[in-house]
Amino acid sequence: MQELILLIIAYMLGSIPTSVWVSKYFFGIDIRDYGSGNAGATNTFRVLGSKWGTLVMIVDMSKGAAAALLVFLLHKYAATDSLQRTNLMIGLGLAAVIGHIFPLWANFKGGKGVATLFGMILAIQPAVAGCCVGVFLLVLYLTRFVSLSSIFSGLAFAVMILFIFNDDSTFYRVFSIAVALMLVLTHQKNINRILKGTENKVPILKFRDR
Ligand code: G3P
Repeated sequence: MQELILLIIAYMLGSIPTSVWVSKYFFGIDIRDYGSGNAGATNTFRVLGSKWGTLVMIVDMSKGAAAALLVFLLHKYAATDSLQRTNLMIGLGLAAVIGHIFPLWANFKGGKGVATLFGMILAIQPAVAGCCVGVFLLVLYLTRFVSLSSIFSGLAFAVMILFIFNDDSTFYRVFSIAVALMLVLTHQKNINRILKGTENKVPILKFRDR
């Protein structure tokens, strides 16, 4: 029962539509009507600039980390480092990611869950999160597509959990596959744009074209 309450809190935390509220209260617009139409940090960078993009990214990551760390509110999990604790942290983080994608506070039309996912992985396994950042930056440097970088870091996450950081938790392994599939699914429009040659590239890396 306590776990269910925490899962609901995690979903509500993930539902905080940071980019939608920032665009609405500071600029009088809905970020979902501009740029890629996505309610996430990347589109906030694109439409409102780096200051607001950074703010949205930090808050969206914090939602995932805070949700996973809710586990420490329950004494039975806080006491020892157990498989049950890892599983509940994954469940809580996932509830926040679902909240981010389908936010209760913004008509269930949210972002793609990348920053929130990263935040939860950072809270659960910082070394894995660090490797995901490495893959993200490498793909970003090579392609300048944030979307492709997100997809590849999701795939790298699954490979790491399945074959390298072999965790005891079957739930974690299933979750890692779900993450990779989820990122491919939430980036369908980006994949179509990449195939058509109309996907936005990160302008700051334009020096590579010179
Ligand atoms: O985190 C979302 C990112 O991977 C793509 O965002 O705005 O280019 O669709 P966007």
